[in-house]
Amino acid sequence: MQNFDYQTPTRLIFGKGVVEKLPKVMGQFGKKILLTYGGGSIKKIGLYQKVKELLKDFEIVELSGIQPNPKYNPSVLDGVSLCKKYGIDVILAVGGGSVLDCSKAIAAGACYDGDPWDLISYKVKAQAALPIVDIITLAATGSEYDCGGVISRTETNDKIGYMDRLLFPAVSFLDPTYTFTVSKKQTAAGIADAMNHTIEQYFVEDSTLLNDGFCESMLRSLMVNGRKCIENPNDYTARAEMMLACTYGCNGILSLGNTMSGWPCHGIEHALSAYYDITHGEGLAIITPRWMRHILNERTLPRFVKYGINVFGIDSSLDEYTIAEKAIEATYNFFETIGIPMHLREVGIDESRIDEMAHHIAVNEGLENAYAPLTEQDIKKILIASL
Ligand code: NZQ
Ligand code: ZN
Repeated sequence: MQNFDYQTPTRLIFGKGVVEKLPKVMGQFGKKILLTYGGGSIKKIGLYQKVKELLKDFEIVELSGIQPNPKYNPSVLDGVSLCKKYGIDVILAVGGGSVLDCSKAIAAGACYDGDPWDLISYKVKAQAALPIVDIITLAATGSEYDCGGVISRTETNDKIGYMDRLLFPAVSFLDPTYTFTVSKKQTAAGIADAMNHTIEQYFVEDSTLLNDGFCESMLRSLMVNGRKCIENPNDYTARAEMMLACTYGCNGILSLGNTMSGWPCHGIEHALSAYYDITHGEGLAIITPRWMRHILNERTLPRFVKYGINVFGIDSSLDEYTIAEKAIEATYNFFETIGIPMHLREVGIDESRIDEMAHHIAVNEGLENAYAPLTEQDIKKILIASL
């Protein structure tokens, strides 16, 4: 087992009606709040009105219109300006991962005198950040329990994962009832995202029985409960278990003591959504089985065998390559049966920019150091197989 130094400072407040605690929680951080949200879903579900009512004694400045794959310009820049102009004490992010990610970048940018891109691009290390509280309304990214945010800069086709320990939310409210209205498309994308977070941490050189079991259980839970959420969007128990599983996905708890994987599917997908603004979870679902097929070899075979037997219940007496092939097929079939388009062409991506994207990924994502190293040619082959 590898050494590690681990701390997640985020307080999770989970369950039906927990948002009632919001005034007390926000009061710890000050009076001036930047309320951030997306394109209006929080108004449709009555959460916006609820938050405004609960926080009637606070001064609230709003930043709305944060898009999926949140944009540096205008959202991060506008948020930073508002924080500086109004002397904001704390950010309250209400929405999906995109709203929260954008708010994390704003939180750091608000405490920095230069161009916030210096921080996101790691040119300068942030020295401080505003506290962040969130009410997460979509189960997927795990942003509510990690210190990362993913920001897109359209003009350079960059989508950068910006991580800093200062960016853990101070408090995350998780009420599964707010996820009842998430569309089938976004629910399926959320399942695929959280499953891939787990897969990225499962396919590693050195892991433990403990972590493998945690990951296998995550994957089984996400498949069983995710399917229930799609069939019956108001199934509280299924939405609740899916929400908690997603929360575990990205904060490192699944891989304590493991060697690093390099998160190759994320490295590839982030370029797809940077170039084509596609839904993150759909891109991952398309890439994952093709990546698996590409890296299957004598060295990686034992991981696939374990994955096939423990996650999908494939007969352990079969030949090892047969188990691995069946496991990859089962992964593909699961994504397909929850309604995810399984070809890049179906989400508007053709071969025209494959070379450019493969080069961009090879230069920016460092995947030659992944568990199964990927060169530019490997990345290109995976993209072509995904068309
Ligand atoms: O904008 P609104 O109107 O709020 O609508 C959103 C959006 O259109 C809607 N939605 C959210 N909650 C809803 C709802 N609709 C109905 N009812 C609700 N309760 O869903 C749409 C998608 O929202 P978005 O926030 O984009 O989805 P998600 O949470 O999947 O976030 C995706 C972003 O997170 C990044 C992705 O790359 C992508 O940019 N990631 C962040 C990570 C992290 N911070 O750790 C890790 C991930 O791997 C991922 O890269
Ligand atoms: Zn993801």
